[in-house]
Amino acid sequence: MIVLGIETSCDETAAALVEETGDAARPWRLVSSVVASQVEIHREWGGVVPELSARQHIRDICGVVERTLLDGGRVRYDAVAVTQGPGLVGSLLVGVAFAKSLAWASRVPLIPVHHLAGHVESLVLDGGEMPLPALVLVVSGGHTSLYLVKTPGVLERVGRTRDDAAGEAYDKVAKLLGLGYPGGPVIDRLAAEGNDRAVSLPKTRLTHADRNAPDVPGKRDFSFSGLKTAVLRHVTARREVLGLGAAGSLPVQEIRDLSASFQRVVVEVLLDRLFEAARWYGARSVGIAGGVSANSRLRAEARARGEAREIPVFIPSLALSTDNAAMIAAAGLRAYRAGTIAGWDLNAEASLKL
Ligand code: KG4
Ligand code: ZN
Repeated sequence: MIVLGIETSCDETAAALVEETGDAARPWRLVSSVVASQVEIHREWGGVVPELSARQHIRDICGVVERTLLDGGRVRYDAVAVTQGPGLVGSLLVGVAFAKSLAWASRVPLIPVHHLAGHVESLVLDGGEMPLPALVLVVSGGHTSLYLVKTPGVLERVGRTRDDAAGEAYDKVAKLLGLGYPGGPVIDRLAAEGNDRAVSLPKTRLTHADRNAPDVPGKRDFSFSGLKTAVLRHVTARREVLGLGAAGSLPVQEIRDLSASFQRVVVEVLLDRLFEAARWYGARSVGIAGGVSANSRLRAEARARGEAREIPVFIPSLALSTDNAAMIAAAGLRAYRAGTIAGWDLNAEASLKL
């Protein structure tokens, strides 16, 4: 069986073909994948503009799907999987309406996919089935959550952010430093040449008053707004000392040091929680998915901690870290095998629950 996946939840128009292999350990094979990024359009505005995003998806979707089928060397597919939500509603609607028409015209089933279930499936698409139970951190521009996976494809949330997502913190800090959008890749690059101990920044810990308390809800939550505010305070103070004015650019080495210090804290907070939760739940593997999993320090430290604790760590290839449709097609295959098919009245849902 071959599934055509379609993803338009945010600022990437993407399509992909994924095939079922019949091998239980490595169930999916990527045939072709195309991603048209809108980053250049939104950069001018310092973030994603929903209306512009929806309009650009309309312009790009036919070409992206056509290219995917050409690259895959086929015109037939056995089902169409589409991101139903969560995301920007106007953007989601383009993908959902297109997928519906295509599935109807091709007389194949339509499969609805949750965007985050897609990110988690990217781990399996790349690395094969994870030893279960698994603890997966989904960390993107809109989400920072921990999921316990006991059965393939079934995600139980055991932690989430109380305020900003980690990617959002990256984007806001980059904006503050005048580094443009999206912030993650730029800060990641600058951090490589900075001193990660140069600026002292707080690590917010949301723990139960009694650290040895049993597993209480919220104990594994994240919070990044305090960190973002600490960066803002630091930058404001330095601008004042250097007489730079309210939006003045700090010296480049200071920006590198601040980026490195910020990144060190984000990565430590994310990995502390992930590995603590993995130990608590007796996980046999851990995974990191979503746009921030492209971060070089997060990838390197996660692998090092995994080796030290002798637990396998699943991280997608860079192409599958940020938004793509291959993960949607793979999650669609999983959902279809579990009996999920959408009706022709399928609608986009901006805050779809898992
Ligand atoms: O999963 P994704 O492509 O879209 C959402 O579903 O949100 O994630 C995008 C987020 C953005 O916030 C971006 O700044 C962040 O992922 N990101 C990174 C890196 N590459 C992308 N964050 C840190 N380091 C990176 N290398
Ligand atoms: Zn995403």
